[in-house]
Amino acid sequence: MNRLDGEVAVITGGARGLGRAIAEAFVNEGARVCIADVRTELAQQTAAEIGSSAIAVELDVTDEESWAYALAEGESAFGALTVLVNNAGLAEGAPIAETTLESYRRVTEVNQTGVFLGMKSVIPAMKRAGHGSIINMSSIDGMVGSPRIISYIASKWAVRGMTKAVAMEMGPFSIRVNSIHPGHVVTELGLPDGVSADAISEMVTKHTERHAPLQRTGLPSEVAAMAVFLASNESSYCTGSEFVVDGGFTAGYPAPGSPNPW
Ligand SMILES: NC(=O)c1ccc[n+]([C@@H]2O[C@H](COP(=O)([O-])OP(=O)(O)OC[C@H]3O[C@@H](n4cnc5c(N)ncnc54)[C@H](O)[C@@H]3O)[C@@H](O)[C@H]2O)c1
Repeated sequence: MNRLDGEVAVITGGARGLGRAIAEAFVNEGARVCIADVRTELAQQTAAEIGSSAIAVELDVTDEESWAYALAEGESAFGALTVLVNNAGLAEGAPIAETTLESYRRVTEVNQTGVFLGMKSVIPAMKRAGHGSIINMSSIDGMVGSPRIISYIASKWAVRGMTKAVAMEMGPFSIRVNSIHPGHVVTELGLPDGVSADAISEMVTKHTERHAPLQRTGLPSEVAAMAVFLASNESSYCTGSEFVVDGGFTAGYPAPGSPNPW
């Protein structure tokens, strides 16, 4: 018996990065998964590499009609949808004075409005299924502040709050809603297309080594393990909560190795 036998999951932004790792972990635990992404070719390639328990569906999370098509496609391929991972995300960094309204809107449209539309769109299918687990990908940037990334911070705090609001409405329908708050995991997030993750790997790794008690960046599989727990019945009494996977980054201060002010 696998931990996700019988579950059907939609994973947004599943073509690469954390979403791909979640799709792989879900299939390893017996789920069938829809890899829902705007990067359609990459999503198809990822699904083919994962195998017959995965399909790619085209989805722009900012578009309500696109959600309707993607969910209908998933349901007709695999049956009742029981898990949604709202993982698709964008990051664009700049000091507030240099952040254009256009950039602010682009980021919040995907990271925040996309999560709203995802939850709203999947609830009828989960009600038909009789239960469900919605997992919203926030960040440590939804727990604390950080300079030069205001749109991302705004969106990730919003995801944390929306998770609680919808958990309160959906509890009576056996639909649980939780957020995951990863720390630093080296992926292609925030990089222009064609720039590999190696470009930021050293900088992110050094920063995390200095500030996280576990003194290393996280692995996509370590975030995926939390998603498996939240998708499975092991988390049956968890809803409306934050699940932090950050190597202790947000646990407190001072950073390991720095002088203690007290
Ligand atoms: N990598 C980290 O350190 C980290 C830390 C905390 C939180 N997160 C969050 O985890 C999630 C995944 O990040 P990642 O690091 O894997 O990034 P990534 O850039 O590798 O993957 C993001 C995926 O989202 C897809 N996407 C973007 N816009 C979309 C849209 N409009 N519709 C559908 N799909 C869209 C992209 O095509 C891509 O496949 C994001 O929400 C991110 O904010 C990442």
